[in-house]
Amino acid sequence: MKKVISMALAAVLAVGVLAGCSKQNPQSLENIKKAGKIVMYTNAAFPPFEYREGSNVAGVDVDIANEIAKDIGVTLEIKDVEFETIIGAVQSGKCAFGAAGMTVKPERLEQVDFSTKYVKSKQYLILKKGSTVKTIEDLKGKKVGVQTATTGNLILDDEISEGVLKGNEALKTYDDAIIASQDLIAGRIDAVVIDKLPAESIAKTNEGLQAIEMVYADGSNTEEEYAICVQKGNKELLDSINSTLDKLIKAGKIDEYVLNHTSKK
Ligand code: ARG
Repeated sequence: MKKVISMALAAVLAVGVLAGCSKQNPQSLENIKKAGKIVMYTNAAFPPFEYREGSNVAGVDVDIANEIAKDIGVTLEIKDVEFETIIGAVQSGKCAFGAAGMTVKPERLEQVDFSTKYVKSKQYLILKKGSTVKTIEDLKGKKVGVQTATTGNLILDDEISEGVLKGNEALKTYDDAIIASQDLIAGRIDAVVIDKLPAESIAKTNEGLQAIEMVYADGSNTEEEYAICVQKGNKELLDSINSTLDKLIKAGKIDEYVLNHTSKK
């Protein structure tokens, strides 16, 4: 009997603690509504998905995030941070979600939860016009720039440590692909690896640059898909984000946002 009572008591306590926890989580849907605002972390050096427009951040992810905020009934606040810090900020609850053209990857799924995927992409090479580089294998012996902690960084790390670029040590990491491209223009590196649309956008802004798909010598390529990330287990918020995303995807809005911001950037 005693045991039953103490077990019941433990259960009541556990429920109480859990309820208390979810109330205290500043990023619970309930608390976001109470605060009247939702905070998104991004890295605004990734046009057309996020880029600086004066002191504001604009782009596809911003348009999506505005719809998410509107559906929840709160205002959107955007923080422009280094890409590599976004997952940590989402994990620790510094922000409600990360929206940064972020690719769903198994190792990231161990750290955060991802929404419905909303865009497909590939890795591209930004090169100087006239460069002889055609494939990833051609990067052997060349200096390659990547944005820290991006998929381009991870793919090149793998290829250098045990793949087609084995032994090639000349990978240079940058805060973003725009800064890397300035080093490319200055002749300090030979190529920049970054996602397709940002690569095309960056190449477009400079006469001497071109963007080509990053393919292997055997013709194979890289493929990835973007999603929004939230703190692990924040199901109510994720459900709300997904309902907005699903609605936007169905209405063809994401394609519209991409076209619109691609024409601007
Ligand atoms: N899709 C790549 C990744 O997830 C690059 C994303 C970079 N995003 C940015 N906003 N800078 O790793």
